[in-house]
Amino acid sequence: MISTKRGIGVIVFIAFCVILGVLLGVLLPRRHLNDDTDSILDLPESSPWYNNQEIKIFRQYLRIPTVHPNINYEPCVEFLRKQAASLDLPFSVHYPRDRLNPVVVITWKGSQPELSSIMLNSHTDVVPVFENLWSHPPFSADIDENGKIFGRGSQDVKALGMIYLAAIRALKLDGIKQLNRTFHVTFVPDEEMGGNYGMSPFVTSNEFKALHVGYVLDEARVAESNKLSVTNDERCTWRIEFVFKGVTGHGSLLFENTTGQKLNYVVSKLMQRREIEVVKLKAANSDYTNVTTINLTVMKGGVQANVIPPELSVTFDVRLGVSADHDEFQKDIENWCEEAGGNVTVNYMIKDPKVPATRADDTNPVWVVLNNTCREFGLEIAPSTTIGATDARYLRALNISAFGFSPIINTPRLLHDHDEYVGANEYLLAIDVYKKVISNLGNI
Ligand SMILES: *[C@@H]1O[C@H](CO)[C@@H](O)[C@H](O)[C@H]1NC(C)=O
Ligand SMILES: *[C@@H]1O[C@H](CO)[C@@H](O)[C@H](O)[C@H]1NC(C)=O
Ligand SMILES: *[C@@H]1O[C@H](CO)[C@@H](O)[C@H](O)[C@H]1NC(C)=O
Ligand SMILES: *[C@@H]1O[C@H](CO)[C@@H](O)[C@H](O)[C@H]1NC(C)=O
Ligand SMILES: *[C@@H]1O[C@H](CO)[C@@H](O)[C@H](O)[C@H]1NC(C)=O
Ligand SMILES: *[C@@H]1O[C@H](CO)[C@@H](O)[C@H](O)[C@H]1NC(C)=O
Ligand SMILES: *[C@@H]1O[C@H](CO)[C@@H](O)[C@H](O)[C@H]1NC(C)=O
Repeated sequence: MISTKRGIGVIVFIAFCVILGVLLGVLLPRRHLNDDTDSILDLPESSPWYNNQEIKIFRQYLRIPTVHPNINYEPCVEFLRKQAASLDLPFSVHYPRDRLNPVVVITWKGSQPELSSIMLNSHTDVVPVFENLWSHPPFSADIDENGKIFGRGSQDVKALGMIYLAAIRALKLDGIKQLNRTFHVTFVPDEEMGGNYGMSPFVTSNEFKALHVGYVLDEARVAESNKLSVTNDERCTWRIEFVFKGVTGHGSLLFENTTGQKLNYVVSKLMQRREIEVVKLKAANSDYTNVTTINLTVMKGGVQANVIPPELSVTFDVRLGVSADHDEFQKDIENWCEEAGGNVTVNYMIKDPKVPATRADDTNPVWVVLNNTCREFGLEIAPSTTIGATDARYLRALNISAFGFSPIINTPRLLHDHDEYVGANEYLLAIDVYKKVISNLGNI
């Protein structure tokens, strides 16, 4: 028995060695390959950014094509796992909606964990490209002689994600092991599609509750000068489908209450309202804050050319201005449908609730930190409203303070555009600003 066991032991040991050998054979050349790919990112010694680790890490992140549609986020998760390990910070990944949409959390624990934490958020997904319109490939992270780093997502919003980590790295290198408050650096999927597979389900999860988030910083557009727009509010999206039902019959007769008449009535009312908003927008010098945009986006219906259709539908994309009265707008819609002759169904595909703006004054300690830090760097800040929609709305809906803050200055706004880039020097300055912001926020 004993000798049989020993024999089995020897066989198992040999099998183990063989497997180990095969694994090493497979893995070692791969690692080599990876190093080779990394070396593409090395800059010539003459470059001012030669050997700059932060520039290199940023470029590596840009080279991961987390581009819609059908994103495979796993390489991105692995990259972030490596970043967390190199910073010696705990890493976790959650799947609040499904296995395809990971939320990554990298945590820098504070010395006073009973204080609410600070969440530094960015999204990992990027919008599609028209590659033929790019002068540099959108997923190569080319850097030109002026330091422009080209890549889809460089502005929106991969820079920010790496700036958070770079700032923490710089603080740790200064010997700061911990701040009072805990920081959670979060990387969420699906923001560009509305967050239904990312931040929206994440904020209702137990994993999110366990983070005990008190304050959030999130994306904002880059600044064209040294004046930063810090976003503290958003317009609300209502995507409304109207379904008109009515009498049907031969197209040669004149029936009352046809779907066509009803549709015409409701669409006219919305188009009249749209005209008012267009005038308002001009008067506000194209500031969308208080303007409700109304756009017809989809129409469906019809059976054949000589039959009055029993059903027609039309969809509007509406963004309610910050000062809009939601109840009043809804009542107008209901009245128009009634006046149109009834049998009109209103489906709200999206109906963002009114959420409180984040207070941008000295009652909010985060605002005070942003204001003071920016003044130290010669930057001006002013509160503003996001034109589109960002994940910050899900946090504001929970009454959590959430600012969009991006200290990338002197940069033309090219988000969602081709040849999107961030300059190396602007990127490094933003790290310095965030380093100070984080060290100040850590002790509020
Ligand atoms: C929007 O409307 C509010 C309230 O009517 C007003 O206080 C604010 O100044 C307006 N903002 C802009 C940018 O027009
Ligand atoms: C949507 O409608 C508003 C006016 O309500 C207009 O200012 C805006 O440019 C429109 N958006 C698009 C993409 O057409
Ligand atoms: C058309 O709609 C109006 C208002 O709802 C209603 O009074 C009228 O009876 C309808 N006519 C027909 C033929 O259904
Ligand atoms: C509404 O639809 C129902 C069923 O299709 C119909 O019986 C009724 O007459 C319609 N009412 C109006 C006002 O069109
Ligand atoms: C920033 O702080 C300074 C000094 O406390 C204050 O005068 C200024 O109004 C603040 N700016 C904003 C935009 O809050
Ligand atoms: C929202 O948060 C603010 C600031 O923390 C607080 O003063 C206010 O009471 C809260 N409102 C609600 C509805 O919880
Ligand atoms: C935060 O930490 C500092 C040391 O960095 C300490 O002096 C201070 O008392 C702490 N603040 C709070 C609110 O506990």
